[in-house]
Amino acid sequence: MKLLHIDASSRTIRSVTRKLSAGFINTLRLTHPNLKVTHHDVGHHPPPFISDAWVGAAFSPADQHDPAMKGVLHHSDELTAELLACDRLLIASPMHNFTVSASLKAWIDQVVRADMTFKVTEEGVVPLLHGKKALIITARGGFVAGTEYDFQEPYLRKILDFIGITDVTFIHAEGVNNGEDARVAAMTKAVADLTGLAPTW
Ligand SMILES: Cc1cc2nc3c(=O)[nH]c(=O)nc-3n(C[C@H](O)[C@H](O)[C@H](O)COP(=O)(O)O)c2cc1C
Repeated sequence: MKLLHIDASSRTIRSVTRKLSAGFINTLRLTHPNLKVTHHDVGHHPPPFISDAWVGAAFSPADQHDPAMKGVLHHSDELTAELLACDRLLIASPMHNFTVSASLKAWIDQVVRADMTFKVTEEGVVPLLHGKKALIITARGGFVAGTEYDFQEPYLRKILDFIGITDVTFIHAEGVNNGEDARVAAMTKAVADLTGLAPTW
């Protein structure tokens, strides 16, 4: 089983999502001894924002790409290849200003690629990914799941669906900024949920 692990927190040892996702992978190894993990830390090393040259290259046919276009797309090609190659996608996603962190959005912009992860046809847009499962571990300072303040889960569900990842599980650690007791309670619940999920994921 090939797992692509995306860490999107700008924080380090205090990051809730980093702790939970690293712990989940350790748990997963117990039931999936052949697990192969590709780790991409976009929180600490964000992909570049897309540029005019990037858009021109990404939305033109690959067989017409000159060396400059290939150069502009090189990083995106690598990130997209990682996504195409994985069986499972694990995203550790802090909530920032009601939605995903800018670093995770930058990664999404690099991997939502015409003719690689989705295709535009006369009948409409067709997703090109199949058979992958995703797990999204989020952390929120407050309690926003299911409210009008949550643009993170609905957005991630929509964009993953757009490229063909429809089997998506969310585990939220909520209220982590409501004091130490609330943070510990949120993490304890998330760890229990993740431990329960691991054998069948
Ligand atoms: C820039 C910034 C924006 C945030 N925006 C929100 C928010 O809109 N809603 C919320 O509930 N928490 C918000 N938080 C709190 C984080 O979601 C919380 O600290 C969480 O633990 C972040 O994940 P991490 O610990 O893995 O970095 C924000 C934190 C930061 C740093």
